Amino acid sequence: ATIHDQKLQRGAGGELHQFAEDGMPLLTTAQGGPVSDDQNTLRVGARGPALIDDFHFREKIFHFDHERIPERVVHARGYGAHGYFETYESLAAYTRADLFQRPGEKTPAFVRFSTVAGSKGSFDLARDVRGFAVKIYTQQGNWDLVGNNIPVFFIQDAIKFPDVIHSVKPEPDKEFPQAQSAHDNFWDFITLTPESMHMIMWVMSDRAIPRSFRFMEGFGVHTFRFVNATDESTFVKFHWKPKLGLQSVAWNEAVKINGADPDFHRRDLWQSIQSGAFPEWELCVQLFDQDFADTFDFDILDPTKLIPEEILPVKPIGRLVLDRMPDNFFAETEQVAFMTQNVPPGIDFSNDPLLQGRNFSYLDTQLKRLGGPNFTHLPINAPKCPFHNFQQDGHMAMRNPVGRVNYQPNSWNQGPRESPVQGYRHFPAEEQGPKVRLRPESFADHYSQARQFYISQTPPEQRHIAAALIFELSKVETPVIRERMVSHLLNIDETLASKVGHALGFKSMPKPADAAMPTRQDLEPSPALSIIER
Ligand code: HEM
Repeated sequence: ATIHDQKLQRGAGGELHQFAEDGMPLLTTAQGGPVSDDQNTLRVGARGPALIDDFHFREKIFHFDHERIPERVVHARGYGAHGYFETYESLAAYTRADLFQRPGEKTPAFVRFSTVAGSKGSFDLARDVRGFAVKIYTQQGNWDLVGNNIPVFFIQDAIKFPDVIHSVKPEPDKEFPQAQSAHDNFWDFITLTPESMHMIMWVMSDRAIPRSFRFMEGFGVHTFRFVNATDESTFVKFHWKPKLGLQSVAWNEAVKINGADPDFHRRDLWQSIQSGAFPEWELCVQLFDQDFADTFDFDILDPTKLIPEEILPVKPIGRLVLDRMPDNFFAETEQVAFMTQNVPPGIDFSNDPLLQGRNFSYLDTQLKRLGGPNFTHLPINAPKCPFHNFQQDGHMAMRNPVGRVNYQPNSWNQGPRESPVQGYRHFPAEEQGPKVRLRPESFADHYSQARQFYISQTPPEQRHIAAALIFELSKVETPVIRERMVSHLLNIDETLASKVGHALGFKSMPKPADAAMPTRQDLEPSPALSIIER
């Protein structure tokens, strides 16, 4: 058949649409060339060798061979949805961020939920932290609130991030265990890092096995700043509160669900949104100033601490509704690039050393994962407001400067210009001090909030925490690591410690951990300790 024999149709732009004999669109190569046979390679005779002339075969296989990109180094398994953020009231007194000025205004958003430790193909109901990453496409550029479903973090300084993640991921020689924290390396690191105690109590609680994404809270974790039009700053902590409330599964349910339906959380989000039951969260804030911050024994820059809601209630400022699933998982959920440094004017950072490190890490990791500097050209990452700059070229550039000018200042009166009035102004915090590597004294208390969290739990929830610790530590083969964990628990809750110690077969309890525990320890168990053989 020649092109003249086929059904032809002109599109709105005058382009020619070609159809196969059965009326379906004509299959083409990526170059647009029509394909005659997609079932058989080109050969010398029906039983002869394949020919290198077969450009259709070579293109098809080449493209398939390159389908995979690196999975995220953390939070590899995730699931996303589109929606919108709706502002409740003007927050002009606190922030000049455009999205918080007009009550009732809706701003498009994309959210990706994730587990942290497991690989892309791992199961949904692992005992793990859940990522809760929100991209809001504001009129002043994208705001990424890259949070978790737990309000605190394992470490106080970003320089420890590779260590905590290496310890939880599969061990380098064995490449197991996959997607779970029940192993020696993880508990070795945790017990040598007392600052992780608060977070570990949350991870051992029911929070780490949520019923679905729809029943989870989200937290920005760090202290951020709101900055208003007159450059006044208010500290802010962000919380997402699920409209459906909080729900978790029990551990024995999680284990069964993982076997029967590893996509349990994905399926839940897909089905609820497709059926019109749109999940919803309220964005709530805790707002405070330096004087209020100074009333605490802990430091508001320390990401292992939270500000109790009983002391500073949260204020709802808007809602997030998820109402549309992506058309294509890869294009949207896999290629979305969240970065903590994406903030609009009116939202700024604090000196939290974890946040400061994150602000470097995310740009770096996107360059690697998405293959170059033009990942902002992907529709899921591009701003939805007008944007202009002189960035050009690079792999896969879809946008380049138009015309002669690609720099400024220029004499041709062309191209965008900066504006000290409308542009992003960093809060002019006054900073001074010696250049040091030093953990502040105000970051030193690692147990008080761990204890408060445990005490705040109901008796069944406390039993679940004990059971989780017993299960996880029973998988730890090195006695001194179990001993060290129980010695930390003694500083959190003695009854919990003895319950865990007893279940692990301790004949006597170790001494409570020294709060200022050195990071290198003698790996010999103490003579007082003896463990029943498993
Ligand atoms: C990815 C949250 C700390 C580096 C993510 C994601 C979330 C998240 C939700 C997944 C984003 C997505 O869905 O695409 C957090 C929270 C932290 C934290 C709440 C502490 C409060 C850190 C630190 C670093 C870091 C300290 C490094 C210094 C990364 C990297 C990725 C990532 C490299 C992969 C990003 C990608 O490839 O898309 N984090 N993270 N995170 N995080 Fe963090």
